[in-house]
Amino acid sequence: MKKLVVAVSVLSLLGATSAMAKTTEEIWKTCTACHGAKGEGKKALGPALKGNEFIVKGSDADISATIKDGRSGAAKKYKEFPSPMPPQKALTPDEIHELVEYLKGNLQK
Ligand code: HEC
Repeated sequence: MKKLVVAVSVLSLLGATSAMAKTTEEIWKTCTACHGAKGEGKKALGPALKGNEFIVKGSDADISATIKDGRSGAAKKYKEFPSPMPPQKALTPDEIHELVEYLKGNLQK
């Protein structure tokens, strides 16, 4: 009986970690509210990321920093999108790295 309890709690621990590591697609879903499902942008909410020069030609470091720290106040670039880009503090460096690859890669196709 004790063994069974241990096995069950180990399994639930494994379940917890795999639920915590988010896939790039899952993370991207949180961006689409403002940037559109295909990165086409949304009126007044967020600029298009598809075909966006900052994404296509910008450095990985600049894009990563924008995602991690967001942009508000004087740092903002777009007047037509009044809201700030919210900082994504919950993402790990690895998650941000993969997100940048996605933005530069699959999203531009
Ligand atoms: C609440 C709306 C919102 C959400 C959610 C959001 N963004 Fe943004 N994002 C913005 C706005 C508004 C800007 C424009 C900021 C500015 O004026 O510079 C922006 C700008 C950006 C830029 C810079 C674009 C450029 O042309 O300089 C990148 C990259 C970006 N967002 C990526 C993301 C990613 C990746 C996510 C998801 C993890 C995300 N955003 C989630 C609103 C949002």
